[in-house]
Order: sequence, then C-alpha cells, then structure tokens
Amino acid sequence: MNYNRLFITVSWMLLSSSALLAADPKEGQVLFQGRCASCHSVTKKITGPALMGVEDRHPEGWIISFVKGSQAMIKSGDKAALEVFNQNNQIVMPDHPDLNEEQIRDILAYVKVESANAPKEDNAPFSRPGEKQPNLMPLTIYNFPFMIAYVMLIIIMIILLVFLVNIKSYERHIHKED
Ligand code: HEC
Repeated sequence: MNYNRLFITVSWMLLSSSALLAADPKEGQVLFQGRCASCHSVTKKITGPALMGVEDRHPEGWIISFVKGSQAMIKSGDKAALEVFNQNNQIVMPDHPDLNEEQIRDILAYVKVESANAPKEDNAPFSRPGEKQPNLMPLTIYNFPFMIAYVMLIIIMIILLVFLVNIKSYERHIHKED
C-alpha cells in the first residue's frame, strides 16, 4: 500500500469538500479586481480604506449591507456606517446591489487570504529581536540559570588552576629530591 498516495487522496478529498462549503477566494479575487480595486487595496488606503481586517471591525452582515448600499445605511442612521463615511472624507462608495451575499463572502475570503499573505510591518530581520525571538533571554544577572552556570564554570576553572599549580609544585618537589 502506498501511504503517500493514500494521504494525498484523502487530503485532496477533504480540501475539495470543504471548498464546496466555504467562500471561494478565487471568485472573490476576480470580483474584487473588477469592482473594488479601483478604490480599495487590501493593505493600503486608496480612496476607500484598506480592507485588511475589515471582518474584525464589522460583523459580516453589516459588511454585506454596506457593500450593497452604504448610503442607505448612513441615511438610516447606522452609527458605524456614518463613522466610516466621515473618516473617509465623506466620499460616497457606489452601491453594488447586483452582488449577492455569496459573492460578497467570496470577496471577503479573498481579502482574508491576501491579508495573510501581506508582509507584516516589521518583516525586516532583527528589526525587533525581542519580539522575533521571545525565548531568547538577555544575559543579565536576572537570568538565573545562566548566572548559576557561569559561576559554576568559574569555580571549576579556579579548582583546575589550583590543581595544575599543585601538580607543578609537586613536580618541582620531586626534581629537587633527585
Ligand atoms: C468608487 C470607490 C469605491 C469602490 C469602487 C468601492 N468602494 Fe468600498 N469604500 C469606498 C469608500 C470611500 C469607503 C469609505 C466609506 C464611505 O465613505 O462611505 C468605502 C468603504 C468600504 C467598506 C468599509 C470599510 C471599513 O473599514 O469600515 C467596505 C467593507 C467596502 N468599502 C467594501 C467594498 C467592496 C467589497 C467593493 C467592491 C465590490 C467596494 N468597496 C468598492 C469607496 C469605494
């Protein structure tokens, strides 16, 4: 039995079955580029805000209504919608009444994938070494395991030195007796 092949087949089946249930970022990418990219980027503010993390800022249902008709929401007194509108110089985002919920979910899935791919702000190595290597302990006296090892090393070296000096003087002692 070829386990590799079995593994690949099973994971492929799992992946494709979950793809049937979940939103499709590929569809979302096509929609995003055709309908949103003139004003939105995932990572940068253009005319509209960067869409990275938009799902943490608003519930999905809110986003769907906003994309379908943001001005209607603003006029009906939705506080969050009014806030976004005011923060973006009251530029009107055009309505997209023809997009259905599934398509907007696909766009959000694409935004999620793109956000995950986006380089983090401090991607330069060693820019914040403390954050990059949280397990790296600085060598201070507060680092007790290191200090204990260090002190023990010094003690061992002193013992070794004393021992060597003793051997030398013992040798001299023997030579004197010759
Ligand atoms: C003509 C420019 C324009 C287009 C095209 C556009 N938007 Fe917008 N979008 C805006 C502006 C401007 C805002 C800020 C809110 C406002 O001013 O009403 C915004 C806000 C948003 C918000 C709220 C973001 C937040 O951080 O709260 C979402 C979500 C959004 N747009 C999604 C989309 C999607 C999805 C598409 C494509 C289907 C799209 N937009 C197309 C201009 C645009």
